[in-house]
Order: sequence, then structure tokens, then C-alpha cells
Amino acid sequence: MINAQTQLYGVFGNPVRHSLSPVIHNGVFRRMGLNAVYLAFEVQNLAEAIRGIKGLGIRGVSVTIPFKAAVIPYLDQLEEVAGKIQAVNTISHERGGLIGHNTDWRGAMGALEEKIDLRNKKVLLLGAGGAARAIAFGLKERGCRVFVHNRSLAKGRELAEAMGLVCPPAGAIQGLDVQVIINATSVGMIPREEETPWPRELIKEGTVVMDIVYQPLRTKFLREAEERGCRTIDGLEMLARQGAAQVEIWTGKKPDIPSIKEDLQRALK
Ligand code: ATR
Repeated sequence: MINAQTQLYGVFGNPVRHSLSPVIHNGVFRRMGLNAVYLAFEVQNLAEAIRGIKGLGIRGVSVTIPFKAAVIPYLDQLEEVAGKIQAVNTISHERGGLIGHNTDWRGAMGALEEKIDLRNKKVLLLGAGGAARAIAFGLKERGCRVFVHNRSLAKGRELAEAMGLVCPPAGAIQGLDVQVIINATSVGMIPREEETPWPRELIKEGTVVMDIVYQPLRTKFLREAEERGCRTIDGLEMLARQGAAQVEIWTGKKPDIPSIKEDLQRALK
């Protein structure tokens, strides 16, 4: 029941009409019995939207494309990790102040650690955008040796330098022996689901293979990895966990991750 006590949360993005964040959070709020509602805001003016958080007493906001970096100057405080990643996907509104957090890296690590102990592992990270940056931070934090490969070599090198990763020259990347491969690019996403970010013949049996793409859920990359005898992690795993970590920041309570995944699977069908 929405009433005069209902608390407001939301996501700031543009475009935002396909966001799955309202599915995650409204489901969690319902199961937790919180009198709260979560809406998608297609933001036209970021500065005004941020002022609206304080002006209206919005309790918490998720931040998505294209505002994850742009939002930083408007916040009162930045959590150290979000500063290192240079991206904010979560704002908490506490005693008048707006604090920026990043839960993407936590979501990715949670998903990976279900399948593998990351300590001292060698990881191939495909991509060098915002998602790759967050994942790279988590992998370094867990003690991995990270090799980055990106379409634009210059961007790959930049990320490697900023985060202490290895960016091998194009000729050397094929001979890499890694235990984990992660796609942090948008390659394989509908409507181009026949594409894959990494050739099938370079996926070794026994590798843990993760994709951040979740439309489709079984990407070509993951299907080929399965055919090669690999354990796979689909894009909903990170998505569900970054959302769960947001709820923890906002409410102090840990939501049930399997229930979030069920809600997401239903929404994607
Ligand atoms: P996000 O914040 O979701 O990571 P992004 O910052 O735009 O989004 O980064 C997108 C990533 O996907 C980049 O690594 C990009 O490679 P470039 O740096 O070369 O642009 C990668 N990417 C997108 N489309 C691609 C394609 N068709 N082939 C290879 N890489 C692609």
C-alpha cells in the first residue's frame, strides 16, 4: 500500500525505460515488508535531478548510463572505492548529505566467488569501460593477476596503467594461460547476439567464464564456453548482487539473492 509514509528510491539514467533496477528493488522492498517504492527517472538535467534528491527527501538512488562518472562532482562525499573506480552507481542520502558508492565491483566479485577462490588467479578481462574498471578493481583487491584486452588498445593500456593490470600486445594475448575469462564489453548483446568477444578455440576446458551481458541470458560466449567444458556465470549474477549491495547500503539489511534472480528471470521472459 502506497501511503503518506512511503519512502521513495529510484534510478537515474537516460535512457532508462529498459532498466531492471525497479524489478530488483520493488521485489526486495515487498519481501522485506518495507513501505518503500522504487521508480525509474529518465533524467534530462543531472544537476537538477540531484538537487531533487535533497529537495524531495529521496532516500537512495541508483545511477546508470550515462551518469556514473558525471554524478561525482555533485555529491557531498565519495566512498574511497568509488573514487578509485571513478564511477558511482549508488547514492545514499544520509542526514542531509549525499554519499557516492560503487556496488558493481562487489556484485561481480560475489558472482565469481560462488564458483572460484580468486586468490592468486590469472584473469583475462575483456573491455576497458566503466564495468571493466569496477571489475578490475575487485580482482586486484582479491589478489588476482589481471590481463586486460580491449578493442581500442589505447583505452586498454590506460586502464592497465591506472589499476596495475597487464595489457599484453595483441600477438601475446592468445597464448595466455588464465583460470578466469570475463566479458565486460557489450559484445553479444541483442540485437547482435551472434557476436562473441572471445574466440571459442581460445577458451580452455575448466576455465571459469563470466559475461556481464544478460540479454540474452545465454550469450554465444557462455554457450561456447559450456561446450568447451567450462563453468559459466551469466549477467544476472552480477546484476542481482550489485542491487543487493545497494539495498544493504540503504537499509542495513541483506536481501535474498535467489529471489532477486527469480524476479529478474521472470522480467526478462
Ligand atoms: P560500460 O560502462 O558498460 O563498460 P563503456 O564504458 O561504453 O560501457 O565500455 C564499453 C566497452 O565495450 C569498451 O571496452 C568497448 O571497447 P572500446 O573501448 O574499444 O570502445 C567495448 N565494446 C563495445 N562494442 C564493442 C565491439 N563491437 N567490439 C569490441 N568491443 C566493444
